[in-house]
Amino acid sequence: MNAPPLIEVRNLAYRYEDGTEALAGIDFDLYPGETVALFGANGSGKTTFVLHLNGLLRGAGLVRVAGLEVTKANLPAIRQKVGLVFQDADDQLFMPSVLEDVAFGPLNLGLPPAEAEQRALRALEEVSMAHAAGKAPYHLSAGEKKRVSIAGILAMRPEILVLDEPTTYLDPPGRRDLTALLARLPQAKIVVTHDVGFALELATRAVFFDKGRIAAQGGPLEIVERFQWRLRAPQQR
Ligand SMILES: Nc1ncnc2c1ncn2[C@@H]1O[C@H](COP(=O)(O)OP(=O)(O)O)[C@@H](O)[C@H]1O
Ligand SMILES: [Mg+2]
Repeated sequence: MNAPPLIEVRNLAYRYEDGTEALAGIDFDLYPGETVALFGANGSGKTTFVLHLNGLLRGAGLVRVAGLEVTKANLPAIRQKVGLVFQDADDQLFMPSVLEDVAFGPLNLGLPPAEAEQRALRALEEVSMAHAAGKAPYHLSAGEKKRVSIAGILAMRPEILVLDEPTTYLDPPGRRDLTALLARLPQAKIVVTHDVGFALELATRAVFFDKGRIAAQGGPLEIVERFQWRLRAPQQR
């Protein structure tokens, strides 16, 4: 691949304050146009890893986004480039109305209110939620909340979307809507997921985390076949 990587991670290690070694030397690249699925058991370090990609956590090793090293001085630029969608939409939505929630990021970037609102409306249209602009986020379904939290990220015009287990709380129609939405968004993506069908539909590559390390990576189908018994829900094992 000739284009420079959008994200470069070298030998990233992270230990929580209580001594838990969550990442034990991660090397990872993300290139334009890719959608990478991150698989791995609970506790294997996936969330810890993605929290490093926009500087919410800072470990030992190198993380570079669009050529910028993740340092305090670069955080505002990096947070605009990397849109991180949390696993639980309730951690992301906190304003009284959907529109205010989605406009919050652009306002924080320093855009004038009218422009922030326009961006927010455009982002809500992209996720088919413009009709709910005046609603309170807590009245929405899980699928709608997920789409609104994605709109809040899109309003920042990021180059990279990172989604942590986006299908967890969704019913089958919500999951289908989300798959279609992500498939039509042009940004490079990293998607943490246990949902094999979802990953096979979207991913161009897959990575398998094990105990804070990348145990394998390759084509999504190859990785799924290799780790099938570990990817199945516990009750099906
Ligand atoms: N805030 C925290 N404090 C201490 N340990 C944590 C914290 N968050 C996660 N961990 C631990 O770090 C490891 C990796 O967790 P996590 O990144 O959440 O994994 P995953 O997202 O793959 O389930 C696990 O052992 C987990 O218990
Ligand atoms: Mg997690």
